[in-house]
Amino acid sequence: MFKQFDKLFGIDLGTSNTVIFEKGKGIVLNEPSVVAFNQHTGELLAAGAEAQAMIGRAPAHVDITYPLINGVIANFDKTSIMLNHFIKKIQGRPSFLRSSQIYITVPCGITNVQKRAIEETIVHKGAKKAIAVEEPIAAALGAGLMLDEPVGHLILDIGGGTCQVAVLSLGGIVASHTINRAGLSIDRDIIEYVKRQYNMEIGAPTAEHIKKQIGTCSTSTEERSLDIRGRDLVDGLPRSIRLVSSEIYTVVNEFLVTLIEAIRATLELCPPELAGDVMEQGILLCGGGALLDGIDERIRVETGVAVHIADKPLECTALGTGMMLGVYKAKSRPTRLEDSTIEEKAV
Ligand SMILES: Nc1ncnc2c1ncn2[C@@H]1O[C@H](COP(=O)(O)OP(=O)(O)OP(=O)(O)O)[C@@H](O)[C@H]1O
Ligand SMILES: [Mg+2]
Repeated sequence: MFKQFDKLFGIDLGTSNTVIFEKGKGIVLNEPSVVAFNQHTGELLAAGAEAQAMIGRAPAHVDITYPLINGVIANFDKTSIMLNHFIKKIQGRPSFLRSSQIYITVPCGITNVQKRAIEETIVHKGAKKAIAVEEPIAAALGAGLMLDEPVGHLILDIGGGTCQVAVLSLGGIVASHTINRAGLSIDRDIIEYVKRQYNMEIGAPTAEHIKKQIGTCSTSTEERSLDIRGRDLVDGLPRSIRLVSSEIYTVVNEFLVTLIEAIRATLELCPPELAGDVMEQGILLCGGGALLDGIDERIRVETGVAVHIADKPLECTALGTGMMLGVYKAKSRPTRLEDSTIEEKAV
């Protein structure tokens, strides 16, 4: 039946990064989810890493946008132009979607109407079939979990726009919690901290660099320092300061408090048998936030549950969509076992 599709793609469409898996080839693209347009002509100037490199350095007529906000598509046109650009880059030709089947990730807990809107948009652009899959299911598969067994697993995906906590069993989501605070909100909090503490303005790329270099979830790791440059808010001139990891800990810690509350809330929603399974199996951590220094140990200490970091935290969701390609023939998408509660927190 699937011979009718020329191409099978699994796409992890994330707020920060887009990762594309092509059946028969594996991961063929991993680029930031960013596009740059010329505001005067509407022309696409760059997408992915090339567009990201322009952030903070582009003239006023260049509009640089992340077309997804908090894991959901905020601008359908820009998202589809971005995806077209990415797949054209892989394929070397523009008519990529024709005859293709696409599995695309969506945050857990979005409504069926929202899922259908995404599927229909992709089909409208020329794909033969599009199936929206909830990210924690794809991430768990990509990390090597056996999901068809009646055993509970807790997946924690710390991405750029969202943190998703989900308990999975028998291939479906039993309980979940999504918070709209993740990597990007830590970057924003770092920008605010530097402004408040040093009267200095820094850009988002510098804040992300600080987080990756000296961000930590622990007070006991060795103090590290980093020299950064920005603009003095008093005299407007460029200035350099030295930051230390214990300062960034205080910023990251506010995020961790919210995250741990979300894990606890999900475990509370979960039937006792499955909570017992989670105690035994541990928590599986994925998404770029899993790379934050000491996050696994901090979650273990706060929850009393062992924590394992997926082998490829930034790629496992796309790998999971790849594993689904061509599998769900009978039903259009994996189903949830029960409706879950979603807590939306403004950032
Ligand atoms: N070494 C690192 N330390 C800390 N954070 C990191 C590291 N590497 C990447 N990140 C962060 O991970 C985030 C991106 O992760 P990921 O690619 O999983 O997000 P996404 O899937 O695009 O977003 P979402 O799932 O929320 O839509 C970014 O905020 C990035 O700064
Ligand atoms: Mg993600």
